[in-house]
Amino acid sequence: MTARYLLKVEAPIGVSAAGLFIGFLVFFTIKKGCLRKKHLKKDVNTMELRRYRFDELKKATDSFSDERLIGSGAFGNVYRGVLGDEKRTVAIKKAHSESNESAEEFKNEVELLSRVKHKNLVSLVGYCSEPKHKILVYEYVSQGCLLEYIVGKERNPLTWQQRVNLAIGSAKGVAHLHGVEPSIIHRDLKPSNILIDDEFEAKISDFGLVKKGPNGDASHVSTQAKGTPGYMDPAYCSSLHLTTSSDVFSFGVILLQLVSSRPALDHTRRQSEYHISNWAKSSVERGMVEDILDVSLQLEPCNNKMMLKMAQLGIRCTAWEPKNRPTIRQVVKELEEALCQVTKSVQRSSYSEESQSFSIDSVLLQRFYVESFEEISVRSASLRCLDVTISSNNNEEVDGR
Ligand SMILES: Nc1ncnc2c1ncn2[C@@H]1O[C@H](COP(=O)(O)OP(=O)(O)OP(=O)(O)O)[C@@H](O)[C@H]1O
Ligand SMILES: [Mg+2]
Repeated sequence: MTARYLLKVEAPIGVSAAGLFIGFLVFFTIKKGCLRKKHLKKDVNTMELRRYRFDELKKATDSFSDERLIGSGAFGNVYRGVLGDEKRTVAIKKAHSESNESAEEFKNEVELLSRVKHKNLVSLVGYCSEPKHKILVYEYVSQGCLLEYIVGKERNPLTWQQRVNLAIGSAKGVAHLHGVEPSIIHRDLKPSNILIDDEFEAKISDFGLVKKGPNGDASHVSTQAKGTPGYMDPAYCSSLHLTTSSDVFSFGVILLQLVSSRPALDHTRRQSEYHISNWAKSSVERGMVEDILDVSLQLEPCNNKMMLKMAQLGIRCTAWEPKNRPTIRQVVKELEEALCQVTKSVQRSSYSEESQSFSIDSVLLQRFYVESFEEISVRSASLRCLDVTISSNNNEEVDGR
């Protein structure tokens, strides 16, 4: 009986001791797991970015030779490099100086870029941080920057579709930055910081000036005004209150440049029209996009309706009062909707069964069926003859030769 009793008493003690032991085991395993996860999480950010030694990057760029130089900016020179082990072509940006400002920009870029990944943002592959060398290593974007297409003479002019596509892609990149928590404000959006890849997609680059947006209920962050003249939001410059709408202002300037291929600031224009938004405003408000359209678009088939929409958005984004500007998400949405509409109407009008080709004096002509003449605008230097049938309410037929 005693034995039974003992057993009876001992059994619960044994069970609870085992339970306690298992409990501790589970607790420590979970805790260890959590710690490991935390450690891993910390590592993920830095692990995805590779840390390079200076001599590796020196080798990758033939000692930072002039033949490898792609361009130069405020932070430093950019070189095309090939990394030996991976045979991967990269862009290597080497700081000009060891100033505190460069070190600050470098740290800023590494920290914030390791938090974001998006197909319309240039990705940071790694970095080199040695006492005398601060170097950033990016994915290589092969087709140059938007500025070269807007003002440069060496690149072919952009078609209207390319302009819209680049606008939508870069707006999506900015929307991704604004959408993370807390938001990331780029502060230096401009055509030289929009790169173009093999598939002619836009990628936002140059994150040296990025700032974390306001936390929680705060409406803005107070910070020194930095950026590039012509693209900087005047409201931010005067109040030093930075919000995502300052990037929207800069983006508006880019939209107007995509339509007109004009500089943001032009001192050859009269003073009241130095800034591109002041120069374009009245034409856009009257719906006269032809007045500001890039000349090269006037020689090619161009959808003026879409260009007008882009210019109108450009004017809204550059509104003086930040509260009157759309968000970048709104910009993406409106551009996509407008493109969808014009694409549908062009398909409906120019490729109907009634389209046919014929020749006069051995010149091959295409006959288009156009539902509404406003829907399509064709201006071509090589267009010798225009034969258009307009189906309007009164079924009027126009035959112009
Ligand atoms: N990832 C990259 N791939 C290919 N080319 C690049 C890359 N990053 C930059 N470049 C090229 O290097 C040039 C210099 O870039 P950088 O951003 O340093 O200066 P910037 O934009 O011209 O001037 P700023 O310092 O005022 O921004 C760019 O114009 C671009 O053509
Ligand atoms: Mg740049």
